[in-house]
Amino acid sequence: MDVFEAMSTCRAIRYLKPDPIDAALVEQVITAATWAPSPGNSQGRDFLVVTEEAKRKQIGDAIEQAMASRVAKMDRPDRTHRLMLDGTEHLVSTLKDCPVLIFVCGKKIYPYQAPRESFIWSAIYPAAQNLVIAARALGLGTVFTTFQGSAEPAIREALSIPDDVYIGCMIPMGWPDAKFGPLKRDPFKEVTHFNQWQGDLRTYPAVDG
Ligand SMILES: Cc1cc2nc3c(=O)[nH]c(=O)nc-3n(C[C@H](O)[C@H](O)[C@H](O)COP(=O)(O)O)c2cc1C
Repeated sequence: MDVFEAMSTCRAIRYLKPDPIDAALVEQVITAATWAPSPGNSQGRDFLVVTEEAKRKQIGDAIEQAMASRVAKMDRPDRTHRLMLDGTEHLVSTLKDCPVLIFVCGKKIYPYQAPRESFIWSAIYPAAQNLVIAARALGLGTVFTTFQGSAEPAIREALSIPDDVYIGCMIPMGWPDAKFGPLKRDPFKEVTHFNQWQGDLRTYPAVDG
């Protein structure tokens, strides 16, 4: 599969099978993530891969307890919201069965003389994006989440994450129980300004988090 096909069909997959993933595939995906750029090639990101059943259950239970009832109550005003939130609800309640949970973490290390927090995210997100595209190319489903924020103290304790390590996102990964396919995105013409800012070419969707 070429990179354009992988990128253009890399849907957020919130329905994941519990079947295990070969360790060699996990290594391949994380290795692809390490190829991402980072400020000054500082590489201030680490990948915490959780495969142990007891730990996955601990994390899944903590997130489900914190999020399930809140997500269940969220408005689903249209099909897009319904699909997304139904998927989120399903993911939250099945997280403990997901075979691999990947926490992309970072430290405040750049620039060396006066490190700034914003550069943590600059290092984390390109790596996380490489990771999801590589997974897609191998047929593995992933979804970016910030679920960790709902139960961060419990997760930090379960995984012995030091205080100076930031958690950027948590990416559940598994064999998909949903389809990859074309993405809904604003088209090139509506997002691209040539040579000068050309006013509002579109309206941004109003989305609640
Ligand atoms: C930084 C970031 C955080 C996200 N957090 C969540 C999340 O907490 N839960 C979730 O279900 N999806 C999350 N998503 C996935 C988005 O909802 C998804 O990419 C978007 O709706 C587009 O879906 P599609 O790629 O399937 O078209 C996140 C995506 C990004 C980039």
